[in-house]
Amino acid sequence: MADTDLIINGTRIPARRGDTILAAGEAAGLRMPKDGSAPCAHDALCESCRIRLESGEVDDNGSRIGASVLACRTKVTGEAAFSFQPFPREMKTSAEVIELRSLAPEIVELVVRIDKPIPYLPGQHVLVSVGKWPARRLTPTLSLDGLRELDTLHFHIRRRADGVVGGNPERLFMPGARLKISGPYGQSFLRHGDGRIVLVSSGTGFAAIWSMAVAARLGQPHRPLHIVASAHDPRQLYMRPAVEWLARQGVSEITLTASGAHPLPPARGGRAVQHLPGLAPSDTVYAAGHPDMVRAVMDVAARAKAITYGIPHVPAAQETGMVEKIARFFGREPKQAQTVVATPVDALASNIRRIGPG
Ligand code: FES
Repeated sequence: MADTDLIINGTRIPARRGDTILAAGEAAGLRMPKDGSAPCAHDALCESCRIRLESGEVDDNGSRIGASVLACRTKVTGEAAFSFQPFPREMKTSAEVIELRSLAPEIVELVVRIDKPIPYLPGQHVLVSVGKWPARRLTPTLSLDGLRELDTLHFHIRRRADGVVGGNPERLFMPGARLKISGPYGQSFLRHGDGRIVLVSSGTGFAAIWSMAVAARLGQPHRPLHIVASAHDPRQLYMRPAVEWLARQGVSEITLTASGAHPLPPARGGRAVQHLPGLAPSDTVYAAGHPDMVRAVMDVAARAKAITYGIPHVPAAQETGMVEKIARFFGREPKQAQTVVATPVDALASNIRRIGPG
């Protein structure tokens, strides 16, 4: 039985102490932000339900960053008010694999043609499933030359020897294969506003950062952009065409960094968080990639009182146990990652020297 009230985006609803904000909002019939795979029963938090606490007290369960909390983790303790941005309605469509192309030794680009457009905002993710296999959480982006056909989606996928199909996504995403896609999900999408936009990625988190960078450049050209793209291994810094596109658009603040033992020029050494510019409350900071990197960047941004959003790469709930299921299906142990020809990292050098910090 309800024993207090919440105000969510201006609507007063009854709530029970001890319930999550997400459950209270949904019980009252509100469309709340969350991931479509109900993933966050385990510890991998997807950030899809992050909302702003406007007033009141809550048990944030360790999820508070600045003035925001995760609605699926935060419990009602009394009257409180929250807000979040309106977001596109979830929809479902089917799609066909057009191409899987190599971007770096461990990274491929999946290109699919969709039957119906999915109206995602830059930074939002979708759930992609093939046949009876569990859905994967992927972030739609543009091709690295800044183009996108309206009926196609591009995704960046990392090969992992210990991951899905033993580092051979070709076995799952064969040209002509039919996929199911639902979404979009997530509150960490590009907003309109003023002030500098700081975009930070690790690994294939660059997919989200790239779609936001293009949208920001074309839709909000008055806002300065600062980009930090990182990888553990410099050979995985696959974004040369994107860097060239940004340079042509006048973006000069781009840092590539490799956190492993042997960074190769033009990549600097160190983790992404070590290369953040000095932050101010007028900045908006987006971080996408490894959950540890995302949390570290969001913490730094929150301490500087900047607005911050995270897009951590965590498996969808349905993906739990996926590796074993697929390995069983193919009747063997996951294979070692396949070695393919990569974009030579030194090809980036002249361009990075030309456009900014090296
Ligand atoms: S739905 Fe709340 S963190 Fe994923």
